Amino acid sequence: MVQETLLKDAFGRSFEYLRLSITEVCNFRCTYCLPDGYQKQKGPGFLSVEEAVRLARGFVALGTWKIRLTGGEPSVRRDFIEFIEAMRAIPGVRRLATTTNGYRLEKNAKAWRDAGLDAINVSVDSFRPEVFHKVTGHDRLREVEAGIEACLDEGYDAVKINAVLLKGVNDQDLSLFQDYVRNRPVSVRFIELMRTGDNAEYFDRYHVSADILAQNLEQEGWVRKTRAAGAGPAIEYVHSDYAGAIGLIAPYSKDFCKTCNRLRVSALGKLHLCLFTEFGMDLRPFLQADEQLEELKVFLCKALQTKAQSHYLDEGVTGGNHRFADIGG
Ligand code: GTP
Ligand code: 5AD
Ligand code: SF4
Repeated sequence: MVQETLLKDAFGRSFEYLRLSITEVCNFRCTYCLPDGYQKQKGPGFLSVEEAVRLARGFVALGTWKIRLTGGEPSVRRDFIEFIEAMRAIPGVRRLATTTNGYRLEKNAKAWRDAGLDAINVSVDSFRPEVFHKVTGHDRLREVEAGIEACLDEGYDAVKINAVLLKGVNDQDLSLFQDYVRNRPVSVRFIELMRTGDNAEYFDRYHVSADILAQNLEQEGWVRKTRAAGAGPAIEYVHSDYAGAIGLIAPYSKDFCKTCNRLRVSALGKLHLCLFTEFGMDLRPFLQADEQLEELKVFLCKALQTKAQSHYLDEGVTGGNHRFADIGG
């Protein structure tokens, strides 16, 4: 029996999806996120597997059933596979996913699948090797593509690609992405570039609305799919000539936050009610012993009552979000 979620906010939204970051470290240098690469920070270490399990148990006890492991790049952790196994072992976790830059995917697609991962989202901002190299700082498109093929061979329930839409960089490449999904059951999602604390100038130069892509897709006969339970924010389009799908993640569009169903916990154990809240709320004090489960649940339910209706990104608000690597996007 599926438990009804007890995680409801003041606007009637239910939160069945937890995005759990396990590291801020990333080995890529995406121009919109970590252009100078990850710089080591002093301070407490990232969540342990034990802390993450206690955290996930608290969320699941309140009705969460989908967990996505994020980063930084989650697979830079040597114990990444232990996180997968531990999350999989929690009764009530019906969907276990991760979002990765794909650099270790070819080698690990099978091991992660065997460990219990259901679904995988991979960042590919361009299918042109030189553009991929320029955006990520790594000439690794071929390896990432091989990793995606490996996931398809391993029979993951869902394989998705994220491309951050960048003016003059990949906004004319719709047909390349369409070609990619013609015979592959992969969903490509274009994400509108979001302003963060660190990328204001970059944002002004490269942000472009996804509206034009929506118009092109509709003109070419693509049709909007209904949103699956627990799905992220993408609006997905399908077409009878294509095995895959094309999605748009448009946070600057009206009512984007109305369907919000996810909460985030950072690698330092802070609850972020939104990608753009000013501060995270420290959950670590509740994660030190199994007996703290009830305390954690009470804290989570209370905290949720303070969740705002929208991100106010359109008013230039970036809150405490300096870059997505800190909080897992
Ligand atoms: P599915 O579970 O496969 O539907 O994936 P998802 O879209 O939730 O996961 P993914 O990690 O691939 O997220 C894609 C990107 O969408 C994130 O990195 C963000 O850029 C954006 N995104 C997801 N949720 C939110 C949100 O609540 N607010 C905003 N502004 N952007 C979001
Ligand atoms: N705006 C939009 N998407 C971003 N991502 C990282 N930073 C930004 C940003 N400022 C994307 C990554 C990855 C996902 C986790 O978030 O490319 O696909
Ligand atoms: Fe790493 Fe993702 Fe940030 Fe790129 S967007 S630098 S892959 S955390």
